[in-house]
Amino acid sequence: MSPAALSLFTLAAALGAASAQAVTGTFPPVPLASKHFTYPNLPFQVDTDQGLIRGTQTGYNICNSTTENQDSLCQTSFFNDATDFCLWAPSKPGETVADVEGEMVAWCSKPGHGTRLIPEGALTGLQFLKTPDYIQVVGFIDQTKINMASGDFGGEMDPHGADLRGNPMGGVMFSTSFGNGIQQVIEWTNFMGSNSFCLKACDPAGANAANFCQHIYDRIGCAYNAPNAAQNNVFEACQADNADFPGVYTGADGAVTTYKQPAESLGPITSIPFTAKVPKSSNCTPLTSSAVFTGLPTAAAAAVTGSGSASGSGSSSGSATVTGSATAKPTGTSGSGSSTGGAKPAQSSQPSDATTLAVSTIAGLFGVMFSVVFLA
Ligand SMILES: *[C@@H]1O[C@H](CO)[C@@H](O)[C@H](O)[C@H]1NC(C)=O
Repeated sequence: MSPAALSLFTLAAALGAASAQAVTGTFPPVPLASKHFTYPNLPFQVDTDQGLIRGTQTGYNICNSTTENQDSLCQTSFFNDATDFCLWAPSKPGETVADVEGEMVAWCSKPGHGTRLIPEGALTGLQFLKTPDYIQVVGFIDQTKINMASGDFGGEMDPHGADLRGNPMGGVMFSTSFGNGIQQVIEWTNFMGSNSFCLKACDPAGANAANFCQHIYDRIGCAYNAPNAAQNNVFEACQADNADFPGVYTGADGAVTTYKQPAESLGPITSIPFTAKVPKSSNCTPLTSSAVFTGLPTAAAAAVTGSGSASGSGSSSGSATVTGSATAKPTGTSGSGSSTGGAKPAQSSQPSDATTLAVSTIAGLFGVMFSVVFLA
């Protein structure tokens, strides 16, 4: 959400401020997105602001082997490639993104980053795209295995946030993907919810990083912010063209329009005047489950709620309970057909569609995930 778009009323309400006076203690002297680091030269905490309305940073940014465990509060994230990335998720079980977006911690797909690890079997399908200006990974996850409440439709994390402290506060991201060693990713977005996710990291050297990783469209989900062809039960990595900037589209008459996301006060978004184009991809290669799940712990006591049912996460219904290793569906093209909990709805194979089935509360809207209000 852009500060410009923010009314005092919205901010006060969203942050629970009791009065306009409290709002004066909202913004930090230096916005998170303006704090730049070379790895591993990070402070213990990136956000040291005191006396601001959202309190202090939950975790820390110096992460190493001693912080690499399932209680880690590491908030230094990595997004290196198709099999090596971290998602933001709650530190305690059963939380909703809306409630703890400022306190999310890193859950990674590979060891070595000093973080929690996404439990084996949680990821059930993903598509990685590398484009000229960004990388993204979009996929399906049993979100109860990373402490998210079953049925949470979720929300969006980015290094801005309404108060410019980021969500999570102090959360930073690095990547080796842009050809210059380990670099901080200045512009990124991560939607989590409805048993799906999209994570997008824009090349810090790219002239349009802030546009490709635009963060103001926090209510319209992955289909619009990270156009993709991810399918549940399929793991693949592709090259792709850049998508349009989120929110920008070209009409049949060739006119280029920038969509304006309605204010939350106007109620649910029930229609959007365009469909985001999925960019052309090429050289898609299947990822083997062993590549994706290397080193992941089995879901602890993922005393899984009714995950099977609520999430409809597809074929290996067992996945929630399976303990064995490397159960992940292999690559392949399988995934398609069957009724994998709606991974392939009629119109397209985007997870956004699938996820609407997963959570009936938003399924009735118009087929995009996360079309619900929260502070981003
Ligand atoms: C490992 O990380 C912890 C937590 O940030 C920090 O206190 C500790 O100094 C680090 N250890 C090393 C050897 O850097």
